[in-house]
Amino acid sequence: MLINKPADLRPSEITDRRYFERRRELLKGGAAAAVGLAAPGLLALSPAAAAKIKFEQLKRSELSADEELTPYESVTSYNNFYEFSTDKKEPAELARNFKSRPWTITVEGEIGQPKTFDVDELIKLFPPEERIYRLRCVEAWSMVIPWVGFPLGNLIRSLAPTSRAKFVEFETLHDPERMPGQRPSLFGGSLEWPYREGLRIDEAMHPLTILAVGLYGEELPGQNGAPIRLVVPWKYGFKSIKSIVRIRLVEQQPVNTWQAQAPGEYGFFANVNPDVAHPRWSQARERRVGDFFKRPTLPFNGYADQVADLYRGMDPRKLY
Ligand code: MTE
Repeated sequence: MLINKPADLRPSEITDRRYFERRRELLKGGAAAAVGLAAPGLLALSPAAAAKIKFEQLKRSELSADEELTPYESVTSYNNFYEFSTDKKEPAELARNFKSRPWTITVEGEIGQPKTFDVDELIKLFPPEERIYRLRCVEAWSMVIPWVGFPLGNLIRSLAPTSRAKFVEFETLHDPERMPGQRPSLFGGSLEWPYREGLRIDEAMHPLTILAVGLYGEELPGQNGAPIRLVVPWKYGFKSIKSIVRIRLVEQQPVNTWQAQAPGEYGFFANVNPDVAHPRWSQARERRVGDFFKRPTLPFNGYADQVADLYRGMDPRKLY
């Protein structure tokens, strides 16, 4: 997570109205290419290689934020995805042709019924809805994104976790052929692969925690974590691990990638906290991508009413 200011991103006046226009445009394309309904809410899987999966008639979750959306172009062109590049602009280009089908996700560990799912089978089992969530990054920029996803808790519950399941560990695909940032370089690799993340079981089961399979009504672009990623809206963006292939329920608290890389800077909990400065910068204010002025950072990224209880009695300085 190198520091890179979003000042070079153009301010935008895109509003909800343009979002709906974009959706209409997407849906027109989808309807023309439709080959049949694969799942409720999943409009079409086009035969054309380049065409995208569109999600139709999505119910909007009541947990959604009521804020102006960050334009699709910004959400998909300013990304942290070290498997492709440490630069924020390059993943959009380098992940353009990322092949995210076929794709399987294995759920294993402290679970009664370990299982490997094809991602589209998973979408059929757990029909996604639209959830407008803020994403806040450690470097102090934020976005508001209409994700398409379903609660992770529904998946975990369906597989009967054992009483020893205290934490959940996630792993991204490790495939240097498809992810150029994972190839060894003269300067050494940027991170240790695969990228890993973890949640406490109550965080994983919280209704705000979702597995996202799309944004703006269509499948996730490669740079945003196709075909499936985590979104935990009250935590810093690095918890929202992309392109997941494995979910493991475990008894011991796992170590996540950034914690292993720089334990003095990144912890396990990574809750957005304006009162605790990152060792190299303040976290009291943030810049919404597209805005000129910064705004105050909200505790738990604005989700305190829903999640603060999960951390009662814990030292907030340890929750970074
Ligand atoms: N997941 C993987 N596998 N690799 C990464 O480098 N970066 C994280 C997170 N998930 C990252 C990842 C960080 S630091 C952020 S801020 C968010 O993805 C960014 O998500 P976005 O590109 O969709 O905005």
